[in-house]
Amino acid sequence: MRIAVVGSGYVGLVAGACFCDLGHDVVLVDNDARKLAALKNGQVPIHENFLPELLSRHRGNRLTFSDDLQEAVRSSSVIFVAVGTPPTERGEADLSYVESVAREISGGVNGYKVIVEKSTVPVYTSEWVRKIILRSGTEPEMFDVASNPEFLREGTAVTDFLFPDRIVIGCDSERSADVLREVYAPLTDGSYYAKADAIPQPDKVSIPAPIIVTSTKSAELIKHASNAFLAMKISFINAVASVCESVGANVNQVVHGVGTDARIGPRFLNPGIGYGGSCFPKDVMAFRAVARECGYDFRLLDEVMRINEDQRDRFLRKIRSALWTLRGKKLGVLGLAFKGGTDDIRESPAVFLVQSLLQEGCQITAYDPAAMERTREAMSSEITFAKSAYEAAHGMDALLILTEWEEFANLDLARLAQELKYPIVIDGRNLYDPDVMAEHGFTYYSVGREASHPDGVPAAVRNGKKA
Ligand code: UDX
Ligand code: UDX
Repeated sequence: MRIAVVGSGYVGLVAGACFCDLGHDVVLVDNDARKLAALKNGQVPIHENFLPELLSRHRGNRLTFSDDLQEAVRSSSVIFVAVGTPPTERGEADLSYVESVAREISGGVNGYKVIVEKSTVPVYTSEWVRKIILRSGTEPEMFDVASNPEFLREGTAVTDFLFPDRIVIGCDSERSADVLREVYAPLTDGSYYAKADAIPQPDKVSIPAPIIVTSTKSAELIKHASNAFLAMKISFINAVASVCESVGANVNQVVHGVGTDARIGPRFLNPGIGYGGSCFPKDVMAFRAVARECGYDFRLLDEVMRINEDQRDRFLRKIRSALWTLRGKKLGVLGLAFKGGTDDIRESPAVFLVQSLLQEGCQITAYDPAAMERTREAMSSEITFAKSAYEAAHGMDALLILTEWEEFANLDLARLAQELKYPIVIDGRNLYDPDVMAEHGFTYYSVGREASHPDGVPAAVRNGKKA
């Protein structure tokens, strides 16, 4: 099948490369000339597992790049729209890119086309896209608009795409549903997984992937409701972590006890410094706004956002209470990305905290396995970048862990203790066991757990846990 993907950001690029791996021919369209030139030259603009392999496998064969949207529409039967939908000042999704793309698509319709929203958009967007295309003079029988939300997590986007929990297609006609079923057939009939060069299967996935066919409005809501629910789960456990701190309980034990209830499940119950990234903050806000617009006052979502912001402030207060004054303090920072496994710093709570600490007069030396380049571009030169976690710790008054990179959970603790001027670790991601840190001579603070101290009597023992 011949597919056009409009927008070569995180979502469009991954989707385009994966469609090629399913055997389709894809033209990736973008209006950013620099990005297109880089992609044509073989560069991989984002840090994403397996993406370099897929791009080099298909570039110039099944995968081509273009800035000519109308020509791409003419030569394709399905057009996926994956342009950005950033938040406006009022928190709504800005759909002006989607609208202008819809208008332009209309000029290329030379036969039946299925136009698919892949960007996260509020309910009713497909109706608007349809109206815009009709207003531009396209006959109604020449196209359908469908919704096919993505559930890709950055860092694992390729495997999330190829081994999804489910594929949701929202279609208001059987004809468009059949086209989308055909697009995803290699995943739903399992033929993709039988290929010798298929991307390796991650743990705990069920294949083949189930496909869920809904109305377009339901599909639009599924995306917003899923992201809002996951954000709510994170805010919920962060609130529980605050209660744990007040009463001296251990949030990790609470998570274990709560998460083993199959109805709740352990995933997305990791407390920390709050959620960030290009999706959760924007989507919770947009879902709140669209619900209000449609007449429902979804105040639960206000609280989800409030807890999330509060979580960073609480962490700042924790740093202050651990170090007393901040002006002139030298702090090592591990992690700048909004989460582990990505170079993305959009809405990163780590970057927010670094900026606040700089304002307080701290000197920051930071290390991140992938996000330093982007941070350098986005921030002034006030921060020093290190080549390793140990270098970031060298000579510092304390070390902060702000992103849940796997490599930060496996540090040589004896070496770390030697590098630091004072062995103080303030961990915003609960990567270590407080007792183990105390045994290695650290004063260790984390989220929703008591601080531990290197006095030979770990806090848990002092409190009778192991007595
Ligand atoms: C974006 C949204 O943020 C997300 O909610 C949605 O699900 C998918 O689109 P992302 O892929 O991360 O996610 O966006 P971004 O990295 O900003 O990429 C958008 C791309 O579209 C850019 O490459 C931009 O140049 C391109 N674009 C934008 C166009 O080609 N045409 C336009 O009119 C606008
Ligand atoms: C999310 C959704 O998971 C994905 O389905 C959707 O398509 C896009 O948005 P992503 O933004 O890549 O994906 O990251 P995700 O792994 O969901 O993490 C989001 C944020 O929540 C990160 O800042 C992460 O650190 C934080 N988080 C996640 C927690 O604080 N605790 C958790 O238990 C899980």
